[in-house]
Amino acid sequence: MRPSMSLVRSVQRVTRRSYSSEAVPERKVAVLGAAGGIGQPLSLLMKLNPLVSHLSLYDIAGTPGVAADVSHINTRSEVKGYAGEDQLAQALEGADVVIIPAGVPRKPGMTRDDLFNINAGIVKGLTAAIAKYCPNALINMISNPVNSTVPIAAEVLKKAGKYDEKRLFGVTTLDVVRAKTFYAGKANVNVAEVNVPVVGGHAGITILPLFSQATPTANLPHDVIKALTKRTQDGGTEVVEAKAGKGSATLSMAYAGALFADACLKGLNGVPDVVECSFVQSSVTELPFFASKVRLGRNGVEEVLGLGNLSDFEKEGLESLKPELKASIEKGIQFANQN
Ligand code: NAD
Ligand code: LMR
Repeated sequence: MRPSMSLVRSVQRVTRRSYSSEAVPERKVAVLGAAGGIGQPLSLLMKLNPLVSHLSLYDIAGTPGVAADVSHINTRSEVKGYAGEDQLAQALEGADVVIIPAGVPRKPGMTRDDLFNINAGIVKGLTAAIAKYCPNALINMISNPVNSTVPIAAEVLKKAGKYDEKRLFGVTTLDVVRAKTFYAGKANVNVAEVNVPVVGGHAGITILPLFSQATPTANLPHDVIKALTKRTQDGGTEVVEAKAGKGSATLSMAYAGALFADACLKGLNGVPDVVECSFVQSSVTELPFFASKVRLGRNGVEEVLGLGNLSDFEKEGLESLKPELKASIEKGIQFANQN
């Protein structure tokens, strides 16, 4: 529970600094897939977030129980559970942030792309509902393969005439969380002080941690940087294999998802200098979507930040990831336009 408590404390500190308690705006957050492995702990963490006034928990089944349970926690937000498509409109209406961890997770031996056939349709349906019922919400896409589900969502929103590139985010925060943890271990520095940007996408070699920009600096030898890079790229697989058929990362993902949603809420509320890595529409490279540091503001993305100086190793990694990321983006776009 330590990470969630530190998240709560840091949120409370910022909240106290920025507003009187009366001035904290009402914010509705909807979690789609709230009864799942990520959805449940994520719902708990969002219930601990004082920036949330209304917490809407949606899934195809199981949400009445999750909502009843979470609603007994004595924090600010009012919690409501919604189950089944009939209740999706109510779950979404008025939402400021919609977090989507709906869809199937990997089993050992699978790639994230192997989830495409099932998750693409789920994401398409949920995004169409967002376009209808809360088109101004910031969408935090967790469902895999993120490299394709974000382009799918963009196309669905475009078709509905509701696309605003500033409001659609692929959640890559878990890559950053992992890079920070692994770096702190090797550099022997306080993990709480570590920063590492992670760019590219969210699958295998498309995950590109920029350890040359990591702080505090540690001058780690190249073989260690190479190993750290590989471990960050394979972090999801490490968990999938350890869970041996019982799914993928849920608890660390809930933590990462809660951090990212909190950053979105702070941005919406006008807190300055909120910067997180995310997979967004981008012109940082020739690819139409790319993860990099993003400044968050009152309308979502305020600024997509550039990559900064890369080491030769990172430059190579950047060129190697482009074909795979391009193909995953195109696959998503094609699916959305054909189905
Ligand atoms: P899970 O199977 O435990 O939970 C998924 C939930 O989604 C279930 O409760 C299911 O009922 C629900 N669901 C299915 N179809 C739905 C629909 N149409 N509407 C609403 N809910 C629906 O899976 P999980 O472990 O929570 O993982 C969820 C997704 O998150 C997977 O695709 C996984 O690969 C992905 N993931 C992404 C990251 C990331 O870093 N972006 C990290 C971990 C997992
Ligand atoms: C992760 O990075 O943990 C997720 O994308 C889940 C997975 O399938 O690896």
